[in-house]
Amino acid sequence: MEKDAGVITARTGLICLLGYPVSHSLSPLMHNAAFQAQGLDMVYLAFSVPPADLETAVAGLKALGVRGANVTVPHKEAVVSLLDDIAPLAARIGAVNTIVNQAGYLVGHNTDAPGFLDALQTVRPQGAEGARFLIAGAGGAARAVVAAVCEAGATAVLIYNRTAERAIALCRAAANWGNAECRAVGREDLATALAEVDVVVNATSVGLQPGVKDPVVPVDNLDSRRHVVMDLVYGTKPTALVAQARSKGVTAVDGLEMLIMQASRSYHL
Ligand code: ATR
Repeated sequence: MEKDAGVITARTGLICLLGYPVSHSLSPLMHNAAFQAQGLDMVYLAFSVPPADLETAVAGLKALGVRGANVTVPHKEAVVSLLDDIAPLAARIGAVNTIVNQAGYLVGHNTDAPGFLDALQTVRPQGAEGARFLIAGAGGAARAVVAAVCEAGATAVLIYNRTAERAIALCRAAANWGNAECRAVGREDLATALAEVDVVVNATSVGLQPGVKDPVVPVDNLDSRRHVVMDLVYGTKPTALVAQARSKGVTAVDGLEMLIMQASRSYHL
């Protein structure tokens, strides 16, 4: 496995990223830097795979003996039914972001959920235990966050989503993940909801497009003595949510922290 840094040979192992789009991803940079630093004879490449081609791409991982893969938006849920086995946490969440090829047997894992908890500890050392969360979003990313905090002992989870039905469905799913009191809240309830929680999470894609000025959760009612803010979105500058929260003295991190934490766990797998 040891090799000269950067030299690709006939024995070099391949790790893939499957997503749509993938051109913005920092994963190839991170993983290739780590392979080089550790002298591992592996290379990490990103592949833009439209949803209609996901099944063929996953079959290709097996056919080509690809060592493993990361899976990103929008494939994390769809890929579950295409794998040979799913690790228990990924099965409970219903989403996979890491595939390990174990001698032709594809096993799906979820490192987003523990990666979120690792990132949470950087702003709240006691983690999710006993904490109350307001989570914006009800897609795949929100699902991993809700599962992670419920399983880690959160006492309350309030979910706000533009499409209320999806928030209600996610609350229903959360009943399987722990004992947190979970309820969906509307936009008009956000100010009161903030008074009930310790941690505010943006798990929507709002802020992904540069230039967004209005965060999905308005910062007016944030209180630096009780709230910490985590945005799953990241860019070259702090997101509007993170910048506005910090300007009020609130501790806030963007999605880079979680990106690195989940990547580190994927890398180990
Ligand atoms: P992911 O797997 O990354 O979570 P997703 O499943 O497409 O992606 O979910 C995107 C989330 O961002 C959803 O909660 C979506 O809200 P809807 O369920 O109402 O679609 C939210 N979202 C995306 N664009 C939004 C916008 N402009 N305003 C508010 N919420 C938005």
